[in-house]
Amino acid sequence: MISDNYGRVVTGLRISITRRCNLNCIYCHEEGENGLSRNEISQSTIERTVTAATYLGVNKVKFSGGEPLMRHDLEDIIGSLPDLKDISATTNGVLLKKRAAKLANSGLDRINISLPSMDMDHYGRITGYPTALPYVLEGIDAAVDAGLTPVKLNMVLLKSLNDSKIDDIIRFAGKYNGHVILQLIELMNFKNLGHYKVDINGVEKMLEIRASEIKERRMHRRKKYFIDGVEVELVRPLDNSNFCGNCNRLRITSTGQLKPCLMRNDNLIDIPENATVDELKKLLETVVEKREPYYKDCSK
Ligand code: GTP
Ligand code: 5AD
Repeated sequence: MISDNYGRVVTGLRISITRRCNLNCIYCHEEGENGLSRNEISQSTIERTVTAATYLGVNKVKFSGGEPLMRHDLEDIIGSLPDLKDISATTNGVLLKKRAAKLANSGLDRINISLPSMDMDHYGRITGYPTALPYVLEGIDAAVDAGLTPVKLNMVLLKSLNDSKIDDIIRFAGKYNGHVILQLIELMNFKNLGHYKVDINGVEKMLEIRASEIKERRMHRRKKYFIDGVEVELVRPLDNSNFCGNCNRLRITSTGQLKPCLMRNDNLIDIPENATVDELKKLLETVVEKREPYYKDCSK
C-alpha cells in the first residue's frame, strides 16, 4: 500500500487516454489538462504502469478522456490489464451502443455516462450537439443490457439549463430498477461560467428532505441519497476538505504524465515510454509523495 504525507492511501488510478472528444461541452474541465497535445499514452505504458501500481496496492482503474471511446483500442487496453477489483470508464455515451458488449467482454466492470439534460434543446446548448442525445440514450440501454452496472449518469448542475429537471432524471434512472445511479455534480468553474452556478446547499437540502436513507461513500466522503428507489450521489468537491482529504486516486494524463491532483499542473511527472515495472513502482512512490489535498482543513 502507498499513502501520501496526509495519510491518504492510493487505491485507484484515473487514466485519461485521449483529449479528443466528439462533443464540445461548455463546462468541460478536460480532466485538468492543459498545454500542448502530444502523443497519446500507449497501451503498453498503461499496462506497465497499472501493473506497477497493483504491486503498490492499487485495485481500481477508471478510464476517461476527452472521450475514451474515441480510442479504438480501449478494449485491448482493458484486456491487457492485470487482475483488478474495479475497472470503469466515464464516457459521453454517444458511441457506446456498438461498443458496450465488447467493452464488457474485454473486462470493463461498469460505466459512467454524462447526461446533463434529457431535453434535446438544452442538451444541444450544453454539448454543442443536440442530435447526439438519442444515441446517448441508446448507449445507456446498451450499457445496462451488457451488465456494465451500476451505470452512473453524470449530471453537472447548471442554473437555468438543467437545475429544474433533477426530478425528471431521477424518474428516468428509476426505470432501470436499481441498475442506474444518478450523480449530481457541482460545476467546477474552469471556464468562466459563474452565471451557471447552482446553489448546491439548496440541492443538498432538497435531497436530505426527500431521501428515505442517506449513506456516505468512502471516496471523497460523497453522500448518497436514496430517493424513490434511486441512488443519488452528490459530487461536491469545491471548498470541500472532506472531499480532498478522502481522495484515493492518482491521475495519469492522456500524454502519459503522472498527475497528483485534478486542480494542479505544477507537479506532473513524465512516465518514460520504456520504463520497466520496477522503475515505474519507484516513480509512483515519488509522485504519491507529492500528493496534497487541494482544499485542506485549516482548523486542524
Ligand atoms: P466513480 O463514482 O467511482 O465511478 O468515480 P467518479 O464519480 O469520480 O467518476 P466520474 O468520472 O463519473 O466523475 C464524476 C465527477 O467527479 C466528475 O465531475 C469528476 O470531475 C469529479 N471528480 C472525480 N474525481 C475527482 C477528483 O479527484 N477531484 C475533483 N475535484 N473532482 C473529481
Ligand atoms: N465540473 C464538474 N464536472 C465536470 N465534468 C466535466 N467537466 C466538469 C466541470 N467543469 C464531469 C462530466 C464528465 C466527468 C468526466 O466530469 O460529468 O462525465
